[in-house]
Amino acid sequence: MINRRNFLKNTSIFGITPFLPSYNFFNLINKKIKTAHIGVGGMGKADLNDIASHKKVEVYALCDVDNKALVEAGKLFPNAKLFKDYRKMLENIHEDIDAVIVSTPDHTHAPASIMAMEHNKHVYCQKPLTHHVSEARKMKKLAEEKNLVTQMGIQVHSFYDYKLATLLIKSGIIGKVSEVRAWCPKNWGYDGPEPNGSDLVPDYLDWNLWLGTAKERPFKEKVYHPGMWRKLVDFGCGTLGDMGVHIFDTPYNALDLDVPMTIKNKCRKPNNFGFPEKNYVEYVFPGTEYTTETLKWIWEDGKGSPKKHKDLKLPNNDKLPLQGAMFIGEKGRLLLPHFMELPKLIVDNQYKNFDVSTFVDNGELSEIPVRDYGKESYLHYHQFIDTCLGKDECTAPFSYSSRLTETILLGVIAGRFPGKTLHWDNSKAKFAEDEANKYLDSPYRDF
Ligand SMILES: NC(=O)c1ccc[n+]([C@@H]2O[C@H](COP(=O)([O-])OP(=O)(O)OC[C@H]3O[C@@H](n4cnc5c(N)ncnc54)[C@H](O)[C@@H]3O)[C@@H](O)[C@H]2O)c1
Repeated sequence: MINRRNFLKNTSIFGITPFLPSYNFFNLINKKIKTAHIGVGGMGKADLNDIASHKKVEVYALCDVDNKALVEAGKLFPNAKLFKDYRKMLENIHEDIDAVIVSTPDHTHAPASIMAMEHNKHVYCQKPLTHHVSEARKMKKLAEEKNLVTQMGIQVHSFYDYKLATLLIKSGIIGKVSEVRAWCPKNWGYDGPEPNGSDLVPDYLDWNLWLGTAKERPFKEKVYHPGMWRKLVDFGCGTLGDMGVHIFDTPYNALDLDVPMTIKNKCRKPNNFGFPEKNYVEYVFPGTEYTTETLKWIWEDGKGSPKKHKDLKLPNNDKLPLQGAMFIGEKGRLLLPHFMELPKLIVDNQYKNFDVSTFVDNGELSEIPVRDYGKESYLHYHQFIDTCLGKDECTAPFSYSSRLTETILLGVIAGRFPGKTLHWDNSKAKFAEDEANKYLDSPYRDF
């Protein structure tokens, strides 16, 4: 495996050519990275500002199906060209741009990113990478074939405490890990009925373009746009897809996991409209250098999560952080709150100090945490731009984030079969239970 520090230390600007598309290498080092942004309201606005804060970026184009969001973003970047249809934007300006940032609802991540990659553009795509497993595999393949720079929008991946936890686990501080428990009490599910009727589409929204490749349905206020789509099966991925991606990321990365062998989700029966409001997902992964023979992983979300469990008991009867992960190893446990808190080492039910400097001396981390969201969040975005410029290497490229996303999506699919253990064949990309295979993909609507 390539060690990022050695990569950065040992590569001259010419030595890194394999990571860059050769067709525009010299252009890239001499000019600014011209970006086009798809989805500029909500998180897209934060993505836009963080990408634009890199001094080698020129924001070239903005695209949104909501004219209010587009106009607002346009005020910040008055020279940018404005579009409401990403297909027209890419057709018209693909020769003028280097990178595309995709910050739309989940169901549009793959269609927009794939089109951008087909035009040979580097892509920063929000999390979870895709809405379907088949799309995640396709995006990884396309990025590799075209040798493009890619990054998934899990900015906490580049935060101090998460990087430190990864170093601690890899150092063997708690020995081989047999289990991870992760939890989030947020509720990005919806147990209610599908709403009846329709509301007038606001004049600032293009509903057909918002639906994109998803099947047609009437517009209802406050049900889909903005933000609420993440609760609904045709557009989002529930709490697992929303928060799980962030909270899974560090254990997934630290333990060098691949996709799981079995998955079981204890939740309510599916209703084909909203995701369950509570999920209890059990994964079993094949073992790695950092785990016992297999690794068990429990994810809990929704109100009241997590349930009481001996492995989640803290010294001094301390309260668990609201969201986070616990690694259970042969020699102790490591608690990783989500987020911006130091990981805590627990041995024999006592907190144990560790010397941060012995874990940070590989040069990737300072000894003092930054602990400022604004100051840390740009790191992940700048890493993407610097990689486009040949000066860095992305740490959440599609080769990594597609596997993490696939893992999350397998848990989401298991929610269609409450209480049933599904067996996943990684090499065939299929479940042994054929009835589950139809959820790996979904036909695209022509729009
Ligand atoms: N990394 C993080 O911390 C983080 C935080 C929040 C959201 N997100 C991710 O960001 C993405 C957007 O989430 P959000 O909460 O901002 O949603 P949102 O609904 O509030 O905003 C989405 C924006 O995309 C626009 N849009 C929708 N379809 C479009 C299309 N086809 N073309 C162009 N624009 C389109 C919408 O009009 C809106 O402006 C999601 O994937 C979400 O998971 C990430």
